[in-house]
Amino acid sequence: MLKFPNEESVHKYMTRSILGRTVMEVLAHGPTRASVCEQLKALPVAETSRYCSEENSFCWRVHSFGKKIKQDKRLDLIHQFMVNLPLIGRVDLENPDDLFYICEDYGPNPNSAPEEPFYVYVGRKVTEGQRYLAHQYSVKTRHFIGNTSMDAQLSLIMANQGGVKPNMFVFDPFVGTGSLLVAAAHFGGYVAGCDINVNTIHGVGKSSRSFGKPRGEVTLRGNDENILANMRQYNLHDRYLDVMVSDFALNVWRKQELFDVIVTDPPYGIREKTRKIGTNKHYDELEDQTLEGHIPSTMSYHLADIFKDLLNFSARYLRLHGRLVYWLPVVNADYSDDHIPQHPCLKVIANSEQKINMTISRRLITMEKYQSMQNINPLDQVEAEIKTRTYEGSNAIRKIYFPNNSGSQSHNKSLPLT
Ligand SMILES: C[S@@+](CC[C@H](N)C(=O)[O-])C[C@H]1O[C@@H](n2cnc3c(N)ncnc32)[C@H](O)[C@@H]1O
Repeated sequence: MLKFPNEESVHKYMTRSILGRTVMEVLAHGPTRASVCEQLKALPVAETSRYCSEENSFCWRVHSFGKKIKQDKRLDLIHQFMVNLPLIGRVDLENPDDLFYICEDYGPNPNSAPEEPFYVYVGRKVTEGQRYLAHQYSVKTRHFIGNTSMDAQLSLIMANQGGVKPNMFVFDPFVGTGSLLVAAAHFGGYVAGCDINVNTIHGVGKSSRSFGKPRGEVTLRGNDENILANMRQYNLHDRYLDVMVSDFALNVWRKQELFDVIVTDPPYGIREKTRKIGTNKHYDELEDQTLEGHIPSTMSYHLADIFKDLLNFSARYLRLHGRLVYWLPVVNADYSDDHIPQHPCLKVIANSEQKINMTISRRLITMEKYQSMQNINPLDQVEAEIKTRTYEGSNAIRKIYFPNNSGSQSHNKSLPLT
């Protein structure tokens, strides 16, 4: 049970709740139905008069956890409880002014659920959360997607963690197909991103929507499979600033303290090896005319460097009190909180685990920039630091994810990690 100062604050809270279904004002609760009925009967008139009037239509619903309750039993329950409240308005099953819930908890194991519930709550619905948004923005019906498009519900949760509010400047440095930008734009952020993959940014190459055929001519969706088209699909295009092809390892930004929120899903090297622009060859051997139109070669981008770059970048380019939100893959056997990459200007304010399998999880890390780079003594360490060797070397997590081979399963579309 949660305590709120008033109903207004509940409504405000639930306008941002992606996972919460319904908030109800608890009128009575206890380990037996009889004790709950007694409490309902004893409710003061001053309280019940808010909803027990001739003008107020009402309806009752039964929710059971850990056991299925048949329809006739549900009706019995409703009759048993409703007589204890002096409801005198009309019943409206479709659109009642007040909706009352009987919630019965039969424990976590439906196979051995007891005859009687462990605990019973009776409450009045106050408001609902935003779970429908996961459906509204589902990648299943999205115009432009790729193999690594982030699930809509997680994207919205990430935007929430970033505290995205209207008119904030939100940036995703590993933008891919822009799922995180869609979520940030939903909450009113102005969004921008970059990605090293020219095909993704320009919406060319093979399409995930047409079973690997080229984008554009073969898809019914026209030749604009790109992030802007997604924004148009959701009528969020007025929030779209731009995306560009750029290697995150090579900084292109001049103005510091620019972004309000950096939200991103960096590559872990599981589907594809992590790359950045560079080479071990000597470029001065190239003649001037070969440099024009030259496609630079890439080299391995170690995860340790990706996360250090991400924190160093955030410390520099986030405004004060701006937030960085990103996924960090961890090896369950040796994880501890001090393995989270650190920076003197950033502090971890949230860390939630999503289990992937027995070996690996990923953690949604939220950091806040609590001091500017200028405030730090230049003699002090102002670079990101990682106190574990987990992310060192090329394809560190990939080697743990595919212990027996180099990752031939990486073409499997059901891989949860990227
Ligand atoms: C996990 S995906 C991001 C998916 C994205 N959140 C979406 O919903 O589509 C990681 C992205 O990082 C990009 N990437 C990999 N190396 C990069 C680099 N050095 N600089 C910028 N982007 C890079 C990849 O091309 C890929 O699109």
